[in-house]
Amino acid sequence: TSSEELPHGKSEALEYQCIAKDHLSRASLLTLPHGVVDTPIFMPVGTQGTVKGLTASELEEEPINAPIILANTYFINLRPGTDLLDEIGGLHKLEGWSRNLLTDSGGFQMVSLLDLAEFTEEGVHFQSPVDGTELLLTPEKSMAIQNSIGSDIMMALDDVVPVTCKDHARFELAAERSVRWIDRCIAAHTNTANQNLFGIIQGGTDPVLREYSLKHFMERDAKLPGYAIGGLSGGEDKADFWRTVKQCCDVLPPSKPRYVMGVGYPVDLVVCVCLGADMFDCVYPTRTGRFGTALVPTGTMNLRLAQFREDSRPVMQGCRCFVCRTYTRAYLHDTVSETLTGQLIAYHNVAYQLQLMRGLRQSIVEHRLEAFVRDFMAKQFPEGA
Ligand code: GUN
Ligand code: ZN
Repeated sequence: TSSEELPHGKSEALEYQCIAKDHLSRASLLTLPHGVVDTPIFMPVGTQGTVKGLTASELEEEPINAPIILANTYFINLRPGTDLLDEIGGLHKLEGWSRNLLTDSGGFQMVSLLDLAEFTEEGVHFQSPVDGTELLLTPEKSMAIQNSIGSDIMMALDDVVPVTCKDHARFELAAERSVRWIDRCIAAHTNTANQNLFGIIQGGTDPVLREYSLKHFMERDAKLPGYAIGGLSGGEDKADFWRTVKQCCDVLPPSKPRYVMGVGYPVDLVVCVCLGADMFDCVYPTRTGRFGTALVPTGTMNLRLAQFREDSRPVMQGCRCFVCRTYTRAYLHDTVSETLTGQLIAYHNVAYQLQLMRGLRQSIVEHRLEAFVRDFMAKQFPEGA
């Protein structure tokens, strides 16, 4: 791969510079308005701007040192609302976060969290969980909210179908509608000089629908500084999931970032990086941490289990996070039902994900990805499963 030209792309508010490739994997510098992001990257998720249980300074300091986090349009629209955002000058200022922010467009959360949404050609209809009033989120509205937020990466409003849905015609409609909506998003986005709109490839796990989605998004490539692969991470077979990510990565432009939405599990991060993906987000590490489960090289460690009652070791040997440097498994077991302990484990989990991504990145740079992945998988699946 050394003789191959390394991909490089630049648009108004984003630069993508690949610095090394190993097999299909890429190590890159992604320059955004609020700083450089070394990819592959895991982006911690904050539902209301901040990440649950973690402070902005914990996110900024080693070993987390997150260059970008996710915030959510849908929740921010309800509270604090766009008037306040416009007055204060965006979410970076409101949250005291000076690094990059990525916002999702809002529709997906209605489907995944509330199950209250109805998609029509106009937009996503739902009832406000705050006061029950009828609300309509259109592509134009989503862009306006994300422009008020001032996120560095804004996601297109897409029509999302739960991957477990059995109705093929519904997937077809969603893939077609998401193309019609990207045109409305592109037309409504008013701040291309400072904010990047990413398109989201849909089509479920059907290769024909994915091909349709890819083809139509590629026709709009000049307007889109990056792409996401959506509609996954909803309980589909792993084989379908990985095949779909591979199909998309093979077609998406090499000179732009590729973001797999809602992923996730450490194994999936490793596989998707091997397939050529660059960016990921998921609530999994923080959520599972709050419930007492730590991420470790062998998989997961449920600190509620009695076996940790007298275990004086740290959660993870070799982890540089302050939780592993400070607390024993016995202490975390003993206090596991306390809010603070859930937050400590969530902190370790986010640190674990970012350290894992740094390890992957370094192995790409040093052209030893294969050995890294073999070692990772051998620890996760000791029986060779
Ligand atoms: N988060 C996880 N998957 C998706 C998706 O397909 N679309 C959007 N907008 N957000 C997501
Ligand atoms: Zn740790």
